[in-house]
Amino acid sequence: MSGTYSNANPDVQGRQPELSKPLIADLIPKPFIPWAPRPRTNPVGALMQLYLLARNPIETWSKAHYQQPVLSGPSLIGHVVVVNEPAAIRRVFIDNCANYEKDPLQLRVLRAGSKAGAGDGLLVAGGESWKRTRRTLAPLFTPRRVAAFAPLMQMKAQARIEAWMRRRPGSIIEIDREMGRVAYDVLSATLFSDALADGSAGFTRADFEREMSQLLDSIGRIDPLDVLGAPDWMPRLHRRAARNSRDWFEGAVTRLVATRSAQMQAYPARTPDDLLTALLAASDPETGAGLSDGDVAANLFTFIAAGHETTARALAWTLHLLARAPYWQERARAEALAASDDPSQWADNLPVIRAVLDESMRLFPPVPHMSRIALEPDQLAGTSVPAGAIVIVAPWLLHRHELLWDKPSAFMPERFLPGARESIERFAYLPFGAGPRVCIGATFAMQEAMIVLASVLRSVRLAPAHAHEPRPLLRITLRPDERIPLIVHPI
Ligand code: HEM
Repeated sequence: MSGTYSNANPDVQGRQPELSKPLIADLIPKPFIPWAPRPRTNPVGALMQLYLLARNPIETWSKAHYQQPVLSGPSLIGHVVVVNEPAAIRRVFIDNCANYEKDPLQLRVLRAGSKAGAGDGLLVAGGESWKRTRRTLAPLFTPRRVAAFAPLMQMKAQARIEAWMRRRPGSIIEIDREMGRVAYDVLSATLFSDALADGSAGFTRADFEREMSQLLDSIGRIDPLDVLGAPDWMPRLHRRAARNSRDWFEGAVTRLVATRSAQMQAYPARTPDDLLTALLAASDPETGAGLSDGDVAANLFTFIAAGHETTARALAWTLHLLARAPYWQERARAEALAASDDPSQWADNLPVIRAVLDESMRLFPPVPHMSRIALEPDQLAGTSVPAGAIVIVAPWLLHRHELLWDKPSAFMPERFLPGARESIERFAYLPFGAGPRVCIGATFAMQEAMIVLASVLRSVRLAPAHAHEPRPLLRITLRPDERIPLIVHPI
């Protein structure tokens, strides 16, 4: 039987098994191959390249990008070096990282819409300011601190699942939207002790979702004028929308910081123990200096922008894949059902669910593209890198590279199971980046994703609502081009 949910064989006592409960052994683990753009075989002209960059940059990659360790040459944005060789990537991110700074085009995109003079959050800061901020924020994300959020994460996931369970069995949910809601509720609880959820921050979840989607969609579109290096005063197509959403977030975040600051001074004993309080109280372990209110607001916004979409996307793509790969859904469910009831144990002790999540982030990395600028000339895997070159490390390419992965397009979580995962090269798999600028929220995100997945698997069975598959679209994060409808059945 090939991965459907029906099983017509009567059991030994002649009873018909329930239709919605497949037996793991009956499901043939034939790898599911999700839709992906076909690599280009012919070079595209400059105009077509501009068009594709604006439409969906992952469509610009050619066959050679999936086959060669390093590709170097002139392009619309200057000299570009695309690196897919693990030792060379290690050199960019670690061994010679002082030579590779975040590149100006990426920074312009990420800062788009922010007011002149607004503080830089950790994601876009550079030099000494980045070092200071990173030292100051690191203690907020230690494994111990993150583990303390596990019960809240489970509670938020469970509340969402219960809303599904109240519907008729077989109802359709849009899993991308649902995972956006869970990620929002988790952020709201851990960052602001639910000040977002109860509306006391002056806006609702719907406001937040609309503005976040608008912000990422508008800043995430590569503007031809940015690619061509046109001066900043020239009007960009999507910048006005980005600026409106950015203003909205800056206003909301500034209000949250001011309210909490005042509360901490007036009633120190009643201050909630959440990430916002930790941010306001944080100090540089070397100098003892705290963050200014502007820096707190900028970093709060960064946590929201960097942490919400990425985690929601990782979860939505994973559940999409599990809905299409019933063998893995059942295997992961068996593990979730056998797990202890303590969610703080789930992140590190569920190897099948972890393998499914890792494999999903291999195929659909929430951050599919990273880039740096070379300050001085260098050599990467025997290729000369001129000063000023843009160096691209694209998890989308790296994770599907033919020299690094067997059957790169297939969903095969077994490659991440204990015994197999040890042979994966560290710098061949980079969903969270690497080196000093590795994702500061990786432990938080992995714990959240594991808890949400285990909670979903313990409660419901998921199947695709129709045969058509969502297509990945690069808008800073990797989002589906349309909603992902799934059928839910309580188990
Ligand atoms: C599945 C979820 C996530 C993924 C895949 C992800 C991925 C990444 C990647 C690839 C980078 C490095 C970018 C580069 O080197 O150019 C990064 C940086 C960053 N991430 Fe995440 N992230 C996730 C969740 C989070 C969360 C939950 C937070 C915060 C609450 C967060 C905050 C940040 C910050 C602040 C940086 C900048 C770090 C620095 O430059 O020092 N991320 N993330």
